[in-house]
Amino acid sequence: MLQQGMIFPKIENRILVGIVSFLAIMILLVWAAINEGGRMRALTATFHARSIEQGALLFTANCSTCHGPNGYGGAKGPALNNPQLFGHDFFPEITRQITALQTEKADLNVEASRADTTDARRAEIAARIQEIDMQIQELDAPRRQQLQAAIDKGYDPQRPNRLQNVGWAGTTESFILTTLVHGRPVSNNYWSGGGMVAWSQTAGGPLRMDQLEDLTNYIMNWDKGSNWTLDDLFAVQQFAIEPVDGAPLLRQIEQLQASGGVLPEPVGTNVQEILVALEGVTGDPARGDAIYHNVQPSQLGALLACSGCHMAEGAGVGPQTNGTYTRTINERLNDPALAGYTPERYLVESIVMPANYIVPGFQNLMVADFGTKLTLQDLADLVAYLETMNQ
Ligand code: HEC
Ligand code: HEC
Repeated sequence: MLQQGMIFPKIENRILVGIVSFLAIMILLVWAAINEGGRMRALTATFHARSIEQGALLFTANCSTCHGPNGYGGAKGPALNNPQLFGHDFFPEITRQITALQTEKADLNVEASRADTTDARRAEIAARIQEIDMQIQELDAPRRQQLQAAIDKGYDPQRPNRLQNVGWAGTTESFILTTLVHGRPVSNNYWSGGGMVAWSQTAGGPLRMDQLEDLTNYIMNWDKGSNWTLDDLFAVQQFAIEPVDGAPLLRQIEQLQASGGVLPEPVGTNVQEILVALEGVTGDPARGDAIYHNVQPSQLGALLACSGCHMAEGAGVGPQTNGTYTRTINERLNDPALAGYTPERYLVESIVMPANYIVPGFQNLMVADFGTKLTLQDLADLVAYLETMNQ
């Protein structure tokens, strides 16, 4: 009787139902486990996306004045949206392509000289060689000019990895976060915008640790991995400055000060006096070029970053460097506001008292304290250099 009341009266069926139920529960559990991972990932991704968004807001509010709204850098700070910061090296790839094409060309030439090569094959080879030549030329010519502009902004194709250049052994992420936490205490020696301060509250800065992490996530999100293009490189307005040459000079200056020695005197801002003093000094255009382009510091140990605002070609923050002297003669000195100026007076005043005359179409953005960062010799060298800009 009892057996008839059961749904599965047979023992075999009951075992079967047991196994089926067990399997069903296992499948359910596995299913749940799989989905849990997915949900966790989705949550993490949302969290990461939100962190990047937060970072973007913080960046606009706190960082863009120096690093540029899109992270391409400027006169006051290096680019962070920058293949160099992420260590991408374009040139092995381009060199590889060019070499492959040239090898192919050489092979084809060898082949062309083989006796059994038919005329049709020769024509094919010639066409291919022409094609390859054109490819190489297209790769080279316009790009080389852009590369020169990037070099003017501080890029060194031989040293494409910022972290390696500064000897940082950790990850890019830790490099960024550490910079944010501690700042770069001496960077105001070679950056005219005040340098990179510490941002962490633990170091007296204004931002919480989670905010610094948001900022780091935001900057890391600029990394394109192997998809960086040369156009990304050429979008950079200012690369990192390496104070390699400045360091020994600064040490010399510190030693001199420590031993009670007299520092070279800054040139100051009295244009009339400077012009008289300049008569006794010969300017060296090559050294002027070096300090203009941050290759060397001034005699007072300052890196001037003139080229950070003055690109060789095309207006950056300031007027382009090429043709500065020609413009001085043909345009500026014709302006009634500068009546009676000599070219030399205009250049000197532009450097030590930039606010006296604002070049039409530009803003009063030039660093105002070069009078304290340059010696008379530095200034003479800069003027001599700018006088060669007579394109
Ligand atoms: C007053 C200008 C200024 C502001 C504002 C500023 N920075 Fe900087 N930052 C610099 C300078 C200058 C450097 C280069 C320091 C050096 O050369 O050692 C730098 C370096 C960095 C670096 C390291 C880059 C490298 O290649 O060494 C990072 C990352 C960075 N800043 C992020 C930020 C973030 C994020 C903010 C906003 C919270 C910020 N900075 C605000 C001026 C600034
Ligand atoms: C922070 C950006 C910045 C830096 C750095 C800078 N300049 Fe300028 N410079 C400008 C701007 C903007 C102007 C145009 C506005 C004006 O006349 O002041 C200008 C104008 C000039 C002019 C006049 C050019 C013309 O076409 O008439 C000269 C010369 C000059 N700068 C030289 C220098 C030298 C030399 C240095 C480095 C010692 C330097 N600048 C550094 C932004 C800068």
